[in-house]
Formats: sequence, structure tokens, C-alpha cells
Amino acid sequence: MKTTDKPVIFSGIQPSGELTLGNYIGALKNWVNLQEEYTCLFSLVDLHAITVRQNSKEFHKQCYDALAVYLAVGLDPEKNNIFLQSHVPAHSQLAWILNCYAYVGELNRMTQFKDKSGKNKDNINVGLFTYPVLMAADILLYQTKLVPVGADQKQHVEIARDIAIRFNNIYGDIFTVPEVYHPPLGARIMSLQEPTKKMSKSDDDAGATIFLLDSPDVIVKKLKRAVTDSEAEVVYDQKNKPGVSNLLTIMAAVSDRSVDDIVSEMQGQGYGKFKTAVADSLVEFLQPMQERYKKLRDDQAYLDSVLKTCAERVVKLGETTLKTVYITEER
Ligand code: TYM
Repeated sequence: MKTTDKPVIFSGIQPSGELTLGNYIGALKNWVNLQEEYTCLFSLVDLHAITVRQNSKEFHKQCYDALAVYLAVGLDPEKNNIFLQSHVPAHSQLAWILNCYAYVGELNRMTQFKDKSGKNKDNINVGLFTYPVLMAADILLYQTKLVPVGADQKQHVEIARDIAIRFNNIYGDIFTVPEVYHPPLGARIMSLQEPTKKMSKSDDDAGATIFLLDSPDVIVKKLKRAVTDSEAEVVYDQKNKPGVSNLLTIMAAVSDRSVDDIVSEMQGQGYGKFKTAVADSLVEFLQPMQERYKKLRDDQAYLDSVLKTCAERVVKLGETTLKTVYITEER
């Protein structure tokens, strides 16, 4: 696929609930930083989200909520392709073909499948199992060079690479082999309550997760309750002080400062003051974004027009690779 001379980025987030600070630091922030240098496709991966049961009315609303967040954090829909995965049938079409080149053994090794099937014992559906193949289709459809994601998605990008290489070995140079991109800081933002566990949308303890639309009061409360350790020194030490290190990472990421700089500022201040400083920097970053969000979210016609215009562009982009794959398969 020739889009422009710029290399292609593909990434996506499941619109299956309110987006979190982990989604921002691990993914969205980097998308914003990379959007000038690449041809970017940023999807709301609704087909992935239905591997877990969704309430359809609520889900429809959540897709628009997530779209408004994409725009509010600074993704420009004129420069980027921002779209719902289900609006581009080629994702599902390519996924089927790639299913025939993916092995049960390798899908069985996926940690996300093990986690999710452990949590959703009454609904271990086939979609959950073949989820990484749809993700491979998302990526390979556009000859993607770079996939900016948090650390938890590394394994999925690796399987996309494996499938691409396997297919290319049989049929020639059909797919670009993608590379994963992790942010230098914050590839894995941790739970505020259990800092050895990833911060997640679906944590049972709402206090464990900062949502991007949390009010300042809620943020202050969550920070006050955040688990640290029995010492009092603000030091970055992921192994021995995971809670404090996580808070340092969060503060550094949202204020665009270095961890060292924050550590020296917080010298001798104790955890109470440190937590207040983290909360302040979060509120300072989130408030203007939330104001932009509110305006965007109220403008349904604009949101619809973004989805429509981008989907029209993306459908065309996806056609080229799919046609090549179909012809290849016929040979
Ligand atoms: P999802 O919806 O779980 O998460 C979206 C993005 O947010 C990142 N992320 C985090 N990063 C750092 N710390 C955290 N605590 C944290 N929580 C989430 C994720 O790593 C991800 O980058 N399978 C993907 C969606 C997807 C996709 C794709 C991504 C579908 N097709 C193609 C890239 C390319 C997922 O479930 O992300």
C-alpha cells in the first residue's frame, strides 16, 4: 500500500469503558507525539471489545466517549485516520485469512487470553481466543511499520510479526513486518492500590485506576489512598518501591518532566506532600483536556462527520493489501 511517503502507524484502544491514565501514558500520548512524522491510523477497536459481553446501548455511547477523548488529547482528525474498526470490513476479511496461518499452540500462549478467560469463565468465546489474529489483521492491512502500545500488548505485536513473516515466506513480500513502539517512560502504569499489577479499566477497585474523566476531587482522593510503602523517601526504585516509582512515572509523564527532576524537588518532603504534588500535576493536565472533551462530546454531528470522513479514507487504504492477499491466495 502506498499512502504517502511517510511510514505507517496503526494502533487502537478498546472502547469498552472509560479510558484510563494507563491508556493515555502507554498509548495516546505517544500517538499525539508521533502524528506529524507518520501516516497514522488510530482505531476504536469495537470488534475486539465485544469479545467480552457489552451492553449494546452503553457500548454505542462509549464508542463516542472514546472518540471524543482521542480528539481531546490532541489527535488531529485532519492529519490522522480516526475510525471505528467495524466501519472497515477489510479488518474482518483479512482476519479470517490470517486465522488460517495462525496456530492454536501460539494463541494458547497469549497471556491476555489466559487472563481474560480466567476472569470471564462463563464466556470463553472463540473471539477471545482469536483476538490476536484480528489484531494482526488490523496492523498488517495497512503495511504498518510501527505499533505504539503499552508493554502489555508486546506479545500481540510479536504474533502479528510472526504471522507476517510466515505469510511472506510462503507468498513473497506481501506484508510489512511491523515493529512495536513502547514509550521510554510509562509503558506499564500500575494500579494505585496494587502497584505490582497493571492499571486497568476493569479493576474491581475503582480506587486503583485514574480515569481520564475523573473530577479533581476524585483524583485527589485516589492519590491520597494510593499505596506506597513504610518508608518516607521519594526515590525511584521499581523493585523495592513500586508504588512510589509508579507515582513518579505518572507525574513525570503528565508534566513532561524527568523523574530525576521530580525526585530532587521532593527531597525530604514525605509522601503526603508528594501525593499532593502528583494530584496537582494530574489535575493541571486533565482539566483543559476535560473541557475540550465536553465541547466535543456535545457535538454529535461533528463526531459523526469525523467517523464518516475517516472511514471513507480508511476503507480505500485497506483495499490494496486485501486485494493483493486475495490474488496471492488464488495463485
Ligand atoms: P487496550 O484497549 O487494552 O489498551 C489500549 C492501549 O493502552 C495501553 N495500556 C496501558 N499502557 C500502559 N500502562 C497501562 N496500565 C495500560 N493499560 C492499557 C495498551 O498497551 C494499549 O496500547 N489489543 C489492544 C487493542 C488493539 C490494538 C490493535 C493495538 C486492537 N488492535 C492493533 C495496537 C494495534 C488492547 O486491548 O488495548
